[in-house]
Amino acid sequence: MPNVVVVGAQWGDEGKGKIVDLLTQYADVVVRFQGGNNAGHTLVVGGEKTVLHLIPAGILHPGKSCVIGNGVVCDPEVLVTEIEQLKARGFLKDDKQLVVSLDAHVIMPWHQAIDVAREQSMGQGKIGTTGRGIGPTYEDKVARRGIRIRDLLDEARLARKVKDRVALAREELARLGAKADLDEAAIVKKYAALGRRITPYVTDASLWLHGALKQGKQLLFEGAQGTMLDVDHGTYPFVTSSNTVAGNAVVGCGLGPTAVDYVLGISKAYSTRVGSGPYPTELKDDTGERLRKLGGEYGATTGRPRRTGWLDAVALRYAARVNGLSGIAMTKLDVLTGFETVKIAVGYRTGGKVLEEMPSDPELIERCEPVYEELPGWTEKLEKLRTWDDLPPRARAYVKRVEERVGVKVIGCSVGADRGETILVENPFRPGAK
Ligand code: GDP
Ligand code: IMO
Ligand code: MG
Repeated sequence: MPNVVVVGAQWGDEGKGKIVDLLTQYADVVVRFQGGNNAGHTLVVGGEKTVLHLIPAGILHPGKSCVIGNGVVCDPEVLVTEIEQLKARGFLKDDKQLVVSLDAHVIMPWHQAIDVAREQSMGQGKIGTTGRGIGPTYEDKVARRGIRIRDLLDEARLARKVKDRVALAREELARLGAKADLDEAAIVKKYAALGRRITPYVTDASLWLHGALKQGKQLLFEGAQGTMLDVDHGTYPFVTSSNTVAGNAVVGCGLGPTAVDYVLGISKAYSTRVGSGPYPTELKDDTGERLRKLGGEYGATTGRPRRTGWLDAVALRYAARVNGLSGIAMTKLDVLTGFETVKIAVGYRTGGKVLEEMPSDPELIERCEPVYEELPGWTEKLEKLRTWDDLPPRARAYVKRVEERVGVKVIGCSVGADRGETILVENPFRPGAK
């Protein structure tokens, strides 16, 4: 049985959390490998909603393990809150269910302060980050001055590292004109206490995962953000600070590429983006507003209204390429019910030419106008439908057209937020089986 990577194929918020929660029944272990609490993954089970920012979306399944890998940037305060909230609701009864890598980098108070202060100082040119300190934490990791989970477990070592780093943080914050109350002793005390609180979960996650693989356990990797927000392959600089693509799944948890058998890209039936940056199919009109309303398009982390637009098959084909997608799950198909026509961007018009491939220059993407293919819409409600054949012919034709344009099979459609509101045509854990 294969190990499966789930990644966002658009600009994030594609419904990865829902699909990971659904697929966890076929897996033994769910692994987060990048990003941090900039992510907001929503699960709805029997009408009850859970939003997870750090803990993998498999946690509602007792008996399944959830791993936070070395590639994740971890705010221990958010982690502890999430653990407590889950426990209060009767989940995570067995502490063995959660595994946190000793090598994950820690988001410290100055990271968040710098993130927010920089955005404020950038004005119009801002990235529109989630303000959670993600970028500055990854910067420190690459600059080799980061603080890792293992450092929280040794107070003397933590004190040394905080002392080394905090002076630099003060300088940067002063330069940005931001007030910062960075009391070294208080920070050390607080973060050492957080370290003690998460000690039961902390281990060498790479070794742990290797052991799980040796026992024949099935892994499900849970990507955060989306392909177009990847620091290398996205619309740089309007991106997040990690590699969000499937190739990073194994790097971010200490396994090798042979551990991955199947890559599932998640795409909405239309598109959204939060924050600044190029977005060719964006609709700034009534149709965009209608999509936002019907789709409830407000950020799960920041509550910001999401930008909305039609599905972009150029971007999806690009996602298929840079992730090596084996299949696509299309979410929120129900939201398109009632539109007279539905549109798919199949090319980008720029300078009198039509491009079929995603330009590698983001400034060129900014200047592109989408070329649309328009298909007839459908009026039937989809929430209660459970098989492919139940779907109205026009909805099926829409999905098939996307599949043709992207060149990757759509193996499932989501028709509502709830775990059960899903049509799975092919199970990625049993490819080829009916
Ligand atoms: P993620 O970050 O990729 O996990 O996605 P988010 O949770 O940020 O955003 C997806 C939103 O769409 C959440 O509010 C989900 O509950 C909701 N959702 C997921 N799938 C569907 C679906 O098929 N239909 C509808 N109407 N909502 C969905
Ligand atoms: P999930 O996992 C959508 C966006 C921010 C901003 C850019 C950089 O829920 O899909 P950052 O705080 O990461 O430095 O912000 O990336 N962004 C997301 N957009 N979904 C997310 O996560 C996102 N995480 C970051 O809005 O444009
Ligand atoms: Mg989200």
